[in-house]
Amino acid sequence: MRAVQQAEFGGPEVLQLVEIPEPIAGPGEVLVDVALAGVNFADTHQRRNEYLAAAELPLIPGSEVVGIRRSDGVRVLAMTGGRGGYAQVAAVPADLCFPLPDGLADDVALALLLQGLTAWHLIRTSGRTAPGETVVVHAAAGGTGSLAVQLARPLGAGRVIATASSEDKRALAVDLGADVAVDSAAEGLTQRLLDANGGRPVDVVLDAVGGEVFDASMDALAPFGRMVTYGVSGGSTNTVNTRRLMRESRTVTGFWFRHCLGHPELLDEPLADLFERARAGTLRARVGGRYPLGDAAQAQIDLAERRTTGKLVLDVHA
Ligand SMILES: NC(=O)c1ccc[n+]([C@@H]2O[C@H](COP(=O)([O-])OP(=O)(O)OC[C@H]3O[C@@H](n4cnc5c(N)ncnc54)[C@H](OP(=O)(O)O)[C@@H]3O)[C@@H](O)[C@H]2O)c1
Repeated sequence: MRAVQQAEFGGPEVLQLVEIPEPIAGPGEVLVDVALAGVNFADTHQRRNEYLAAAELPLIPGSEVVGIRRSDGVRVLAMTGGRGGYAQVAAVPADLCFPLPDGLADDVALALLLQGLTAWHLIRTSGRTAPGETVVVHAAAGGTGSLAVQLARPLGAGRVIATASSEDKRALAVDLGADVAVDSAAEGLTQRLLDANGGRPVDVVLDAVGGEVFDASMDALAPFGRMVTYGVSGGSTNTVNTRRLMRESRTVTGFWFRHCLGHPELLDEPLADLFERARAGTLRARVGGRYPLGDAAQAQIDLAERRTTGKLVLDVHA
């Protein structure tokens, strides 16, 4: 089979198209004949071995696929457990395969898995968004952000403030349902968020950028507000001052999707909810890029250089 593999950690050039034997399903695993593999920002961290879990070489990247389960011919979405997705066949944990309803295109379904479930849990499980609260979604035109923007109001928010780095991305966020979209640059961000909320501090911030964006967002947070940190796209992590947290009655909470694995109640019901919204047309999963498998490096470059919107997928047969 064809796969993209890396024999060393480093820049995009380490991603090589190779011809290798199909994987063998281990205990508790099944084989999936992959149609499309999802590309996620975490893949760019993992490529340099800088993500939350240490990676081992040689590495076939890719946390999610859509395709046909070989054992019964059922079309499934599947999580790979963190590696093995950029390939024509993937061995995946049997309990992380989700049969797909009719009427959902493969690429749309793929957008709903890691990014969709993350957006859902950011708003509900970690953000604990209460009815009428104001939610800020950073990187609102991205894969996760573009879904969070659309889900925030149906899941309770009263006002949704999007941030993005360009006019086009901000227009997209508003088109997807944000009440307002502001420039995501850290300088002046606190004031822009307050202005976007009628001068009032905000209740929930979903932040995967970190660094100065995190700090500026904290300064816009209301008492009892929740800052949900779930990524470091900007490259810097933050240190939180507990005295300030106490003085402002603020909460900082983290989210890593891995902690949903092994908890069917955190996967099955939210995913069914996402499927239903997508089928009903109230949730628009935007596929912003479809690349041949051999162009995986280019997909990661485009993602890291902020050129993309929505979900990126690899066609493993192109
Ligand atoms: N914790 C978890 O379980 C989990 C799950 C899914 C995703 N994530 C995290 O969520 C973030 C988004 O992931 P995604 O796959 O949905 O990607 P994405 O949002 O489609 O792409 C990343 C976006 O981040 C923004 N960004 C801000 N500063 C950036 C910088 N310095 N370099 C590159 N991009 C920057 C860019 O939007 P603008 O140009 O508009 O700023 C860019 O388009 C990543 O940090 C990822 O690791 C975490």
